[in-house]
Amino acid sequence: MDLLKRIEEAKAFILSKHSKEIQAAIILGSGLGGIVKDIENQKVIKYSEIPGFPESTVKGHAGEIIIGELCGKTVLAMNGRFHYYEGYDMQTVTFPVRVIKALGIENIIITNAAGGMNPNFEPGDLMIITDHINMMGANPLIGANYEELGPRFPDMSSAYNKQLIELALSSAKALNIKVQQGVYCPVSGPTYETAAELKMLRLIGGDAVGMSTVPEVIVANHMSMKVLGISCITDMAIGDNLEPLDHSRVVETANKAMAKFISLVKEIIEKM
Ligand code: HPA
Repeated sequence: MDLLKRIEEAKAFILSKHSKEIQAAIILGSGLGGIVKDIENQKVIKYSEIPGFPESTVKGHAGEIIIGELCGKTVLAMNGRFHYYEGYDMQTVTFPVRVIKALGIENIIITNAAGGMNPNFEPGDLMIITDHINMMGANPLIGANYEELGPRFPDMSSAYNKQLIELALSSAKALNIKVQQGVYCPVSGPTYETAAELKMLRLIGGDAVGMSTVPEVIVANHMSMKVLGISCITDMAIGDNLEPLDHSRVVETANKAMAKFISLVKEIIEKM
């Protein structure tokens, strides 16, 4: 079916469950779902119920949308996302962002767990994403362009909204939370990187490496949404003396940083 029709169907379904205005959306990365418990008057919608949404397949990722109140704002949280490495095409990976915009939401916070390539980082740090280098080998806008959604050649000169970056930094300062800033560099995954790959990604300017976020950021920019990106650094991804890594450690470290992450996101949403 035509993308525009599919967006409309998913939108209509969500509106049938919740029809009030929503001020912000947040996509929760691996191990960062804990903020959901703070959302009040929740409406929970499973991805499997929403037309056009496939089911999330990764452990540590739930698969539902939660709509409710957080710090006096109505928010839509996506607990679990669709990854390119799961075998979904880029249109499917980014479909939820299309629907979020169709619901009239302009502000989106996109989060992830990432490996720290900047030697000044440490596991548990939060990094405000200032820019990205797309190393996934794919782009969600390849194919027919829908002028109704955005231009053929979208500008990416400020993919991460400057005001939202400032808001994130001032919120962190107010809460006395140390945050890093840097360039997020996604690869397709699902393999973690080799030492040689990490040396290259660092050399080209990456501060953190992951397997998500950028497809959603590109599609959000295509539709002129305001994007804030936050990485939770779960491990050091540095080529020299690289240690073995597994997903459970990523989730464990993200869980440890969760309290800090939740405070920061709440402060940002409150002031948004
Ligand atoms: N590499 C890629 N993706 C990741 C990493 C990593 O080191 N940590 C968390 N997600």
